[in-house]
Amino acid sequence: MSVEINSLLHAGYSHPLFREWQATRSITKSALMYPIFITDEDDAKAEIPSMPNQFQWGVNRLEEFLGPLVERGLRSVILFGVITDFSKKDSRGSLADSNECPVVRAVKEIRRLFPDLVVACDVCLCEYTSHGHCGILYDDGTVNNAKSVERIAEVSGNYALAGAHIISPSDCMDGRIKAIKSKFMELDLSHRVAVISYSAKFASGFFGPFRDAAGSAPSFGDRKCYQLPMNARGLARRAILRDLREGADGIMVKPGTPYLDVLAEAARLAEDYPIATYQVSGEFATIHAAANAGVFGLKQHVMETMHGFMRAGASLVLTYFTPELLEWLDN
Ligand code: PBG
Ligand code: ZN
Repeated sequence: MSVEINSLLHAGYSHPLFREWQATRSITKSALMYPIFITDEDDAKAEIPSMPNQFQWGVNRLEEFLGPLVERGLRSVILFGVITDFSKKDSRGSLADSNECPVVRAVKEIRRLFPDLVVACDVCLCEYTSHGHCGILYDDGTVNNAKSVERIAEVSGNYALAGAHIISPSDCMDGRIKAIKSKFMELDLSHRVAVISYSAKFASGFFGPFRDAAGSAPSFGDRKCYQLPMNARGLARRAILRDLREGADGIMVKPGTPYLDVLAEAARLAEDYPIATYQVSGEFATIHAAANAGVFGLKQHVMETMHGFMRAGASLVLTYFTPELLEWLDN
């Protein structure tokens, strides 16, 4: 016999159940967080052309939208605001945490409709600023970090007061986690609101469809001076360690599939914390386009990306495929 006994692997995965046992971490419904767009048009269900089956939802339609998903086992959502009336945007993103803000109103409504659903709020200014950047700017167009962090903490406090369970700052300003945690101390919210930081967020071409959906593209320049350079593993490590030191309750790596090495690194660096990854809009759109072109079957490919995230060490995946996954996980 040419093969040694210890070389025989096939038997160990010869049955479907044996194959399930090979996972270090299996995909469960509780590991999924669904990113959703809330528009300022209260009765709307508006298509997002670059994101198949995703819509901008008005506050009045949240029951119709989320009810069936909660029924299927949806455990958490993360909210993004859409301001269709650009004339309401200003240089400091005043609308972000005003009572008019669709996110502020949606948090309250979702908490009322679905008391068991966990609600996270993405915190950033780009959906609300006239210039479309994620922070407050100096006159020369560069980022005023101190003012930005102060404003991000203020918005975080107001989302938390509205009822958010989780605050996720995606602005990438320096020192925001500490500022948000301090704000929560001040507001006596520290015991009930978690902060999951977009720690390793790269300046990515994969955010394009999101910026269409949220109307948040910068009106000039790009985000390369605050989001991480795509080659920067070292900076990603430093940003993760920094956010842990500042008190983050969990960290995120974003985008997902192109940065699996960083995700694995994050899982090592922050082994005592939940690790999230965001399969972003451009990954979602690319997978749909490829599936439509006959490159692969949608389900098989999405499951493959999910297993990649789990293998790399994710505890939580933000994905627009959540509705499909909730169905697939039932079978
Ligand atoms: C806001 C924000 C963005 C995403 C999440 N929060 C866009 C950006 O940074 O330009 C991207 C999510 C996606 O592409 O699905 N800062
Ligand atoms: Zn932003």
